[in-house]
Amino acid sequence: MNLFSQLIARYNQLKYALLHSQTFDAQHYGFPPLYYEIMESDQARVGAFRRAFAAYDFRDKVVCEAGVGRLALTQFYLPYVKRAYLIESNPHLRDHIVQYLAERGWSDKVVLLFQDAHTVELPEPVDVLIAEMMSIFCINEHQVPIFQHLRRFLRPGGQLFPERIINTIQVARADFEAGYAHYPINFTRHWPELLSLAVVAHTIDLYQITHKTEQLNLPITPLLTGQANAVLLRSLIQLSEGHNFTGTDSLMPPTVCRLAEPTRVVAGKPVQLGARFRYGTTLDGAVFTLDTHQNNASPRKSASRRRNK
Ligand SMILES: C[S@@+](CC[C@H](N)C(=O)[O-])C[C@H]1O[C@@H](n2cnc3c(N)ncnc32)[C@H](O)[C@@H]1O
Repeated sequence: MNLFSQLIARYNQLKYALLHSQTFDAQHYGFPPLYYEIMESDQARVGAFRRAFAAYDFRDKVVCEAGVGRLALTQFYLPYVKRAYLIESNPHLRDHIVQYLAERGWSDKVVLLFQDAHTVELPEPVDVLIAEMMSIFCINEHQVPIFQHLRRFLRPGGQLFPERIINTIQVARADFEAGYAHYPINFTRHWPELLSLAVVAHTIDLYQITHKTEQLNLPITPLLTGQANAVLLRSLIQLSEGHNFTGTDSLMPPTVCRLAEPTRVVAGKPVQLGARFRYGTTLDGAVFTLDTHQNNASPRKSASRRRNK
């Protein structure tokens, strides 16, 4: 059997493989080694950061990067900077990082901090803050709370990588095996049946955001009639202006999440989509709902409802 036919035979077996590889593993202080391989071998992810870094003048800059992993992104800017504070919480990576820096002659300009980036204190202001600690909608990973903490060390006019995340949402119907409430799409055959186009749920401005929870309520008009039981989430990331990354299997893959209640939707009849979640927690705790009543009243009725308030 050639490689492709072996893969085809295992498509369904591998439906949740990406989910498992990305799931927190206490034995590895976070990600299992396989997930580093997935992230580092993805040229779409690594290349997007590389292009964004290449467009910025790092010469003589003081930089802080949180969650450096195995330095897959760090290697592209480190040769140019004056000093870098590199933060990582996984002690299994220490030997690799120390050796990697020494082999390239970069150790002297690096301050390695094996700490939790939520609480780290830097001894000086920095020109640039970098972190690739994202996940779909930034729910599972700690990008938002860690930038909220580290931003206090960013000089006025300093640069963040990434800067902005636009989250989109779509009404869908999907098959979930028992015990699964969400999954990132590993193969397009597990793409759900889509009942609406994607709408922008909200935008995270990483320079500005101060809150930790989101409560979203947005109108959406299905294009197809069907029994909705899911939403499809996507995240579009502006690393820096003109340099973007819009999700692959290794980072922010399109992700299917169960609705709190299956809901029948009708083509052309607006519904109200609700989403509640907290940054840096878990997608298991996120709640997505559809309300078919709020928007279905005729304009006359809804006007009178407003007057009665
Ligand atoms: C998504 S990986 C990215 C690794 C690397 N920057 C890359 O792009 O290949 C995130 C890294 O952040 C680290 N990490 C997670 N939570 C952390 C925390 N609270 N403080 C410091 N590092 C953390 C993980 O151990 C992991 O190595």
